[in-house]
Formats: sequence, structure tokens, C-alpha cells
Amino acid sequence: MLSYILIIIIAYLLGNISTSYIIAKKMIGVDIRTQGSGNAGSTNVLRTLGKKAGAMTFIGDLLKGVVAVFIAQLIAKVSGLDIATAGYLGVFGVVCGHNWPVFLGFKGGKGVATSLGAMIAMNPVLALSCFAIFLVIVIITKYVSLGAIVGISMSPIMMIFAKNNKGIIITLFLTLSVIFTHRENIKRLINGTERKIGQKKE
Ligand code: G3P
Repeated sequence: MLSYILIIIIAYLLGNISTSYIIAKKMIGVDIRTQGSGNAGSTNVLRTLGKKAGAMTFIGDLLKGVVAVFIAQLIAKVSGLDIATAGYLGVFGVVCGHNWPVFLGFKGGKGVATSLGAMIAMNPVLALSCFAIFLVIVIITKYVSLGAIVGISMSPIMMIFAKNNKGIIITLFLTLSVIFTHRENIKRLINGTERKIGQKKE
């Protein structure tokens, strides 16, 4: 039990490392949360600092998801724990740490890239299928938020078909957390004021 708690804590702390915050501080010396949409994520870095910084943020946030799961699985192997349970707790911890980081006053990102990275480490086929759905929606509509919500919402459905009970629980958590963190985006999508990808104006 203690090892499972340790896994969540380590993953949570890893999630606190905000790529967007670090990149924006280094490049322009400001808190990314005071720019654009105010979100500490790659879409906002893209609109504020350009493509290269946006891509670096996406990769950094994705990689910390992968690393959190690998560390969780390593701890599980060493302590003789269930590897799938440990991995999913790693997913839970790192996404919580990214979205609600204690070191940044609990105001983090929306968890899309980090969820993707963590789920790539757990269920690569499922995660990449959801990512493909995300990409298609973003290419067609230019709304990253819509792609993220629809893409991640497919994951519990896929888990139900795969009869993966632990997977259903974690993907339901990821879906609900993405819907929650995108609540303002959802309002804007409904009233037609959501920013399209790369759009700088409010
Ligand atoms: O992953 C975040 C994206 O879906 C929306 O970001 O900055 O437009 O709120 P933003």
C-alpha cells in the first residue's frame, strides 16, 4: 500500500514540472499563465511563443507522462506490486501534478499532452488511436480543445471494448479531468468564441 502511495506522490511531483512555465520564463521572462488563454500548455505556448516553443512544450509534457509511468512500473517490479495498477496510479499522479501543481499554486495545464504520454506508456495502441482522432478533428475544425475532448472521450469506450476494468477507471478519470479543465473552452465552443489553433486574438 505504501509503495502505491509513493508512486502517486512521485508521479504527482513529476507532473509539477511545467514545460510551458519553464520555456516561457526562459524565453521571455514571464509566467505563461499571464499570456494568451492563461493556460500552462502547448497550445498557449504555440500562440504566444511560436511553433518551436509549442512543439517543445508538447514533447516535454508528453515525456513526463511517459517517465512517470516507467518509474511507477519500475517501483512495482522492485516491490513486487501489480504493474498495471502501479502504472495507472502513475498516470493519475502525473496528470494531477500537471493540472493542479502545488508548486505553481495549483494552477497548471489542461492535461492533454501529459495524459497522452502516460497512456502511450500504458496502452500505446489505444493512446495513439485517440491521438489520431484528436488530429483529424483539429485538422478539420482548427479547435485543439474540441479535438482533445473528443479524442480523450474515446478512450473509456475503447477500454470498455477491451474489457480492461482498471483502464476504464483511469480513462474515465482522464476524460472527466479534460472536460473539467476545458470548461471555459466548452463555453466558448458553444458560443462561437473559441480560439482556433495559432489564433492570437482573444
Ligand atoms: O490542451 C489545451 C487546449 O485544448 C486548449 O488550450 O490555451 O486554447 O485553452 P487553450
